[in-house]
Amino acid sequence: MRHYDRGSASGINVLVIGSGGREHALCRSLAKSSRCARLYCAPGNGGIGRVAECIALNPADHGDIVRFCHENRIGLVVIGPEAPLVAGIVDTLGEAGIRAFGPSRAASRLEASKGFTRDLCARFHIPGAAYARFTAADSAKAYIRQHEKPLVIKADGLAAGKGVIVAHSDEEAEAALNDMFSGVFGTAGMEVVIEEYLEGEEASVFALVDGETVLPLATAQDYKREGEGDSGRNTGGMGACSPAPAMTPEIRERAMSEIIAPTIRAMAQTGAPYRGVLYAGLMVTAEGPKLIEYNVRFGDPECQALMMRLQSDLLEALLATCDGRLGEIALKWSDDVAVSVVMAAQGYPGVYERGSRIRGVEKAAAMKTVEIFHAGTRYDGNELIATGGRVLNICALGATIGEARKRAYDAVNLIDWPQGIFRRDIGRRGVNRGIE
Ligand code: AMP
Ligand code: GLY
Repeated sequence: MRHYDRGSASGINVLVIGSGGREHALCRSLAKSSRCARLYCAPGNGGIGRVAECIALNPADHGDIVRFCHENRIGLVVIGPEAPLVAGIVDTLGEAGIRAFGPSRAASRLEASKGFTRDLCARFHIPGAAYARFTAADSAKAYIRQHEKPLVIKADGLAAGKGVIVAHSDEEAEAALNDMFSGVFGTAGMEVVIEEYLEGEEASVFALVDGETVLPLATAQDYKREGEGDSGRNTGGMGACSPAPAMTPEIRERAMSEIIAPTIRAMAQTGAPYRGVLYAGLMVTAEGPKLIEYNVRFGDPECQALMMRLQSDLLEALLATCDGRLGEIALKWSDDVAVSVVMAAQGYPGVYERGSRIRGVEKAAAMKTVEIFHAGTRYDGNELIATGGRVLNICALGATIGEARKRAYDAVNLIDWPQGIFRRDIGRRGVNRGIE
């Protein structure tokens, strides 16, 4: 018997687009819904293949995806990563009469253009960093010389988390500008945003939005750097915990009312209503929360931590988001803390090898309140093979952050993968704040 064949006659067939730990966590939650009939994932990965049917479709080929949806009577497409959203997959699916969870191409500009988002914030008085936009190096360099450092230099477009440089001197800033305007980030760097450096602690808030109604989700904190103590290069994320320790109920309320709600009103007013999940990266400053950036999808690995805590039916919530019925939904979250530790291939976020063997995952996954979500993996028979940079997410729940950390790292210790690396301090910021 195949795990993904739930045989619910009245249910909805769902297609998830993506292949990471985020998509594995989404698939696991969707698979638990009594309304989910068949669950597919394109292209998926080794772990996803145990809960969904993996389909070898290219998420960039929207025509192929439309065809698959028609042939398999897909009632909902859930888009994990940003690239297909920014390329307009939700618009294409909508035109073909297929329901899709995620924002339109126009609304995806909240992530696709940092300049667009900054201008929107300025126009609608949404708290964020002071900034300026440039399309030429000379004027950008003149601006830098006139402003106090550090300054944050950002490629306007999508740069896979790499297009942000915090410059502490004129020289550093000029080197970053030279890189961007010479095309190191391709067209993403042809326009540059220079921002004031915000001091504080970072935290992410997530909300489902149906065009109008905003339903806050749990908060999370990402560990972006490769090394312990936040050292080394930026990565896609080496771990996460939920809730975010810096996020008091008061700050969260302010983030919702001062940042998210006015953004959603602004998007509707300017003709690009937002539907999907909105992820706000915030700096909690002495003056309150300020927007660092928006993402138009779930964070990875923040999503894994959120899905560990979600107790309600994810499919119902996503359908309500698409259908403009979010007002009917109330979500239940576990009071437990979730910690998610990323295991990556040695060399990540730079060059790494593929093809090493991983053992012990089943034993680790059998631990109480532990889940293992796969990112870059495939099964060769019963053997698990690493195929990507970020490879596994070891997630655990605990009554305290200390307990969640202990369980997650006990599980990590059961995994036999000499070529794997991970940070030992995921969740420690919360412990340092005394909330364990
Ligand atoms: P982003 O891709 O915009 O999230 O930026 C990547 C990282 O750069 C953020 O997670 C922050 O750590 C840092 N960063 C971005 N913008 C600012 C800012 N205006 N002030 C301070 N740090 C920032
Ligand atoms: N973990 C950061 C992101 O998903 O953008």
